Amino acid sequence: MTPLRVGLAGLGTVGGTVAKLLRDNARLIERRAGRPVALTRVASRTPKPGIDLGQATFDTDLRALGADDVDVVVELIGGETVAKEVVATAIGAGRHVVTANKALLAAHGEEIFLTANRSGVSVGFEASVAGGIPIVNALRTGLAANRIDAIAGIVNGTSNYILTAMEEEGLDFATALADAQRLGYAEADPTFDVEGIDAAQKLAILAALAFDATIDFDGVHVEGISGIDIEDIRYARELGFSIKHLGIARMHADGVEARVHPALVPESVLIGKVSGVMNAVMAHGNAVGPTLYVGPGAGGMPTASAVVADLVELARGTLPVPQPAERRLPSLGVEGVECPHYLKIPAIDQPGVFAEVADVLSRYKVSIEAVIQRPQAIRTGAEPWVPIIILTNEAPEAVARAFVSDLGGLSGVTGEIARIRVADLSA
Ligand SMILES: NC(=O)c1ccc[n+]([C@@H]2O[C@H](COP(=O)([O-])OP(=O)(O)OC[C@H]3O[C@@H](n4cnc5c(N)ncnc54)[C@H](OP(=O)(O)O)[C@@H]3O)[C@@H](O)[C@H]2O)c1
Repeated sequence: MTPLRVGLAGLGTVGGTVAKLLRDNARLIERRAGRPVALTRVASRTPKPGIDLGQATFDTDLRALGADDVDVVVELIGGETVAKEVVATAIGAGRHVVTANKALLAAHGEEIFLTANRSGVSVGFEASVAGGIPIVNALRTGLAANRIDAIAGIVNGTSNYILTAMEEEGLDFATALADAQRLGYAEADPTFDVEGIDAAQKLAILAALAFDATIDFDGVHVEGISGIDIEDIRYARELGFSIKHLGIARMHADGVEARVHPALVPESVLIGKVSGVMNAVMAHGNAVGPTLYVGPGAGGMPTASAVVADLVELARGTLPVPQPAERRLPSLGVEGVECPHYLKIPAIDQPGVFAEVADVLSRYKVSIEAVIQRPQAIRTGAEPWVPIIILTNEAPEAVARAFVSDLGGLSGVTGEIARIRVADLSA
C-alpha cells in the first residue's frame, strides 16, 4: 500500500495538532483511508522540539516541501502572502493542497481553484469554515442531490462566546472580550472576529460552494458585535430572543444576498440555543429542506480533525479537483432584506414623545409588534431620558434606514438609535 505522503507547512496551534493526530490515530486513519497517511516533511519558521514529528524531516525553509517525497502540501501558516506562495508553488508542482486558511480562500479562492483545476490537483478546505463541523463535506456530498437556496449560521466562535457571556453572565462587551482573550478564544487583536470580517470570509467560502458560484467577497455586508450593549441583550431576552452574530446567504434571481451582522434569533429556534464557542450552520436544500450542523468552530483538535478528514479523502481518491464555478453572481449585500427590526430609542421622559415615534413609523406603514418602556429605566442627566424599545413588523432595509433617520430627527429623541435586525431563519 503506497502511503499518502504529507508535507506540512506551519507548526503552530493547528499544524502541531495535525502532526499529533496523524501519529496518535495512525492505524484508524490508515483503515479509513485504505492506505497509510504519513507525515514526511514539516517546514515552519521555528523548530518545535516538543512536538514529536516521527519519521518526518523538519526544515525552516518552506522550499523543502518541494521535495519528491511529498504528495500533498498542508498549508497551516495563515495570512495571504507566504501562504499564497506555498499553495501556488505546490499546485504548480502538481501537488495536492489542504488548507485551513479562510482569509486566503476568501480573497484568492477563485484563482487557486482555477490553477488547481488546470493542474488536475485536489484542494481540501474543510478546516477553513466552522472548524470541526464537516460542513464542506455535507454540502459537497451529503446534500449533493439538492439545489441549496440558503445558508445561515454562527460561524465565529469568538463572537458567540462573547454574546453568550453577556447574556448568561451579565458581562458588558469589554469584560466578555477580555475573558475571551484570557481563555485563548480571542486574539490579542480581536478586530477580525468582533468586527465580523472572519465570519464574512467563511460565509463567502460557504456560499460559493453551496451555490456553485464565484462570489465577490467585497460585496458581503459586514457588521460586527462591538456595538451590542448588554441592555440590548436583556431587552431582546424579554421579547423572547437571543442576540447572535449570524452569517446569512440566500440565492435570488439577480444575485446572492450575503450578510453578516448581529440579529435577534427567537429562543425557540435551535440556532438561538447554540452557545459559547460552538458554531452552527443551517443549509436549506430544495429536496431535503432545512438541515442543521453544530459543533466546535475552532481550536487545535477540531480544526486538525477537519484537516485530517481531507487527507483521508485524498488518500481514498475522493477529494475532488476543483471545478470552475458554474456562474459569477453579484453580491446583493443586505439591500433586498425585509425583516422585523428591534429599535432602542433614547427619548426625553415627557408625554407625547412616544406618540411622535409611533407617528413616524405609521407614515412608513410599519406597525409595532411590541414595546418596552419602563419608568424605572429613567436615566438622569441634563434632561431625564428613557429608552423606548420597539419591535417592528417586517420592513425593507431602505425603509428601516429612512425611519431610523426620521426618528433621530425628532426633538424628543436625545441620542443615537440602535437598530438590530430580527433573523428569519425559516428558509
Ligand atoms: N487556531 C484555530 O483554532 C484555527 C481554526 C480554523 C482555522 N485556522 C486557520 O489555520 C491556520 C493556522 O492557524 P494557527 O492557529 O495554527 O496559527 P499559528 O498558531 O499562528 O501557527 C502558524 C504557524 O505558521 C508558522 N509561520 C508563520 N509565518 C511563517 C513563515 N513566514 N514561514 C514559515 N512558517 C511560518 C508559525 O511559525 P512560528 O511557530 O515561528 O510562529 C507557526 O508555526 C490559519 O489559516 C488559521 O486561520 C485556525
